Formats: sequence, C-alpha cells, structure tokens
Amino acid sequence: MAAIETGRLVKKFGKFTAVDNLDLKIEEGETYGLLGPNGSGKTTAIKMICGLLRPTFGSVKVLGRAMPSGEVLSSIGYMPQDVAVYIDNTVHENLELFASLYGMTPARFREREREMLDFVDLAGWRDDLASTLSGGMRHRLSLACALLHEPRLLILDEPTVGVDPELRASFWEYFDKLGEKGITVVITTHYMDEAGHCQKVGLLRQGRLIAEGDPEELMKKHGKRSLEDVFLEVARRGAE
Ligand SMILES: Nc1ncnc2c1ncn2[C@@H]1O[C@H](COP(=O)(O)OP(=O)(O)OP(=O)(O)O)[C@@H](O)[C@H]1O
Ligand SMILES: [Mg+2]
Repeated sequence: MAAIETGRLVKKFGKFTAVDNLDLKIEEGETYGLLGPNGSGKTTAIKMICGLLRPTFGSVKVLGRAMPSGEVLSSIGYMPQDVAVYIDNTVHENLELFASLYGMTPARFREREREMLDFVDLAGWRDDLASTLSGGMRHRLSLACALLHEPRLLILDEPTVGVDPELRASFWEYFDKLGEKGITVVITTHYMDEAGHCQKVGLLRQGRLIAEGDPEELMKKHGKRSLEDVFLEVARRGAE
C-alpha cells in the first residue's frame, strides 16, 4: 500500500490552475522531497493530501483511505508552512493541545514532550508564551507539535526555513532516523542539499510534476553535478 497516492489531482482558484493533473505515488517508508519554485503548487498539493483543501478534480488516498478521512488523521503529522502555534499559549500548552487532539495519555505526553523539547532545543522555554519566541523558535515549536504523537506519515511544508544551520543539520539527522524506522516523510524545501537526503524527489512547475526520481539518478540522467542544475535545466526545457 502506498502512503500517498493522488490521481489526476487538480486545484483551480477561479480560472487559475494551481495544481495540474498531479499523479503522485509515495511509498510507505520513503523520504520524498517535493521541490519547485515559489507558487508552483507545493503547499496547495499538500493541503489537498492532508484533506484540508477540497480538490477541484481528482483523488487523494492516504494510507489506503480516500481523503478527507478522520481515521487516518491521527496517523499524519502535518507541519504547515505558515506556522500554526497559538501565540497566547505557552510552549507547553501548545504541545498539550496537540496531545489532547491526538488522545495521548498524560504519561505518554510527559515523555514525548520532554523528548520533543530536547529535539527542537526549546526545553528552556517550556513555560514561556509562544508570542515571546523568535520566528525560528516558533517554527521549531510547530515541528514539535507535528512530531509529538509519533505519526506514521509526516508531511512537513518547509520545516527548515528560518532555522539556523546547526539545528537544520540536527533536524535532518532526525528525519533520516525516522526514515530508517519506516516512517514516511514528505517534505518541501528550497534547499537542494536537503533534497539530497530524500530517496525520491519530485519537481513541480506551474502545478505539474515535470521530473521525478532518485536524486543521484536524476543527476546522472541529466549529466549534472547538482540537483540545482538538474532543476534549472528541467525548468528551462519546460519553459521552451
Ligand atoms: N486560496 C488561494 N486563492 C487563490 N490563489 C491561491 C490560493 N492559494 C494559493 N494560490 C495560488 O496558487 C499558486 C500555488 O501556490 P502554493 O502556495 O501552492 O505554492 P508553493 O509551491 O507552495 O510556493 P512557495 O514555495 O512560495 O511556498 C500560487 O500562484 C498562489 O498564488
Ligand atoms: Mg508553499
């Protein structure tokens, strides 16, 4: 069973087509990078996959269920691009809210909260209001909220934007470990070095999937030394 399968997925906003006949198949346990320039439809596609936005046409299946499905929600950890933390709540209260949404027991929550606060390096801010955190720190809190309930499928929309290099490296170390554990990780990023951590990348342009594959193989196939160069070439060809 694929973790995510979309069939001819389309999203139109008025006459504008943001996602155009997208056929994606992401296997369970895969780390998949969705790449593409600003406005290419990554966030729109992700929101449809999570069941937060209704497709204009096409189908979305997550873990074998047609979306939106209440049943699979607890198996998904979603970190939106626009940080979704409650700024009038403390760091702890934000995490607690997610724990109750996902029906975690108090004991399990206590354990996971400690682990996640250490992971995102916010243990010292547990009782501070989210409004007092820096932008990068809020981003880190949002990631902790998405990971808290140990989902089988993680969907992270630009999780490392505004995060300093040291922490970014530790995030990737963690994502790599999740992949080794069989957790599916879908990630959007503009950092090509990060795309190199993915087993498979998909390049979106104007809502269409214009290339897909193993990063190494894509580089070989296009005779390029970096994914960035592959990307630029494929995008240039697409524009011709
Ligand atoms: N609610 C909306 N109403 C109208 N147009 C929208 C809406 N949401 C997105 N769009 C448009 O759809 C296109 C795709 O946007 P989307 O946010 O999916 O891109 P993206 O690939 O995530 O970009 P970025 O890298 O900047 O995050 C853009 O042109 C955007 O302006
Ligand atoms: Mg986006």
